Amino acid sequence: MGKRIVVVTGASSGMGRELALQIADRYKVDAEFWLIARRSDRLYELKKRLERKGKSSRIFSLDLMNDESFSKLETLLQKERPRIMLLVNASGFGKLGGFSGLDKEELGGMIDLNCRALTLMCRICLPYMADGYGHIINFASAAAFCPQPWFSVYAATKAYVLSFSKALSEELADRCIGVTAVCPGPVRTEFFDIAEEREVLPLYKKLFMADPRRVAKKALKDTLLMKRTSTYGISMNIFRIFIRFLPEGLVFSAIRHINGK
Ligand SMILES: NC(=O)c1ccc[n+]([C@@H]2O[C@H](COP(=O)([O-])OP(=O)(O)OC[C@H]3O[C@@H](n4cnc5c(N)ncnc54)[C@H](OP(=O)(O)O)[C@@H]3O)[C@@H](O)[C@H]2O)c1
Repeated sequence: MGKRIVVVTGASSGMGRELALQIADRYKVDAEFWLIARRSDRLYELKKRLERKGKSSRIFSLDLMNDESFSKLETLLQKERPRIMLLVNASGFGKLGGFSGLDKEELGGMIDLNCRALTLMCRICLPYMADGYGHIINFASAAAFCPQPWFSVYAATKAYVLSFSKALSEELADRCIGVTAVCPGPVRTEFFDIAEEREVLPLYKKLFMADPRRVAKKALKDTLLMKRTSTYGISMNIFRIFIRFLPEGLVFSAIRHINGK
């Protein structure tokens, strides 16, 4: 196998970008960063920052809702046969609002990017992860912990990511390749520029907004500990545990009340 690489999707902003920077600081081994997202100017900015940290990187301005993007990446991987140290699947989006108020493109897009693209990235990268070496970080969400009326499809895509990541981690345990599903609550990123296009986030969630740097730091720490899930913050960890014991009807009534429905 060839050179070592770190693959990051969603590298143009938010937690993908932050993870790329923190991986560069934390992992001392020499690896090239493959930075994937649609906005090349943002990727270029990140490339420059990584250069200042002594890390080389390559920019892939790709739309992961487009099948051609996977063919391009797969062809390149076949040609260069790198050794993938880390795959970070951070590209994703969500739209707040009732199911009937969202159009086909918005609903299908969330499923395509959050589920299909993440799954295909795992599939095309895995052959380049050596046994006992390599880790996958998949961004799920605290929205994966229970069904969420008025954020229904997004929460369902994240439940998929959490379930898939846990199962994959068990399948890969014999190869000593780790999979960590990151499940943060609301995080202060550009995510909400898109999420709030139709409906605004309930006020209480705004009070729990986390810093993307802290979420990324915890995700990396849990990755090194080979944890299957990473949940940042006391409130989200309490939510994760208690939600299992609360009757669904009660949870739905609370969500209805909070959303003013
Ligand atoms: N922020 C939160 O509150 C929160 C909470 C829990 C989980 N999450 C999850 O965490 C992950 C990172 O989100 P974030 O908060 O960092 O949001 P963000 O700042 O909006 O970042 C999303 C990233 O996805 C990329 N992306 C969007 N559409 C794409 C496409 N079609 N093809 C390729 N890349 C695409 C964006 O890049 P381009 O636009 O340049 O393509 C961007 O780099 C997401 O999976 C999100 O669902 C977020």
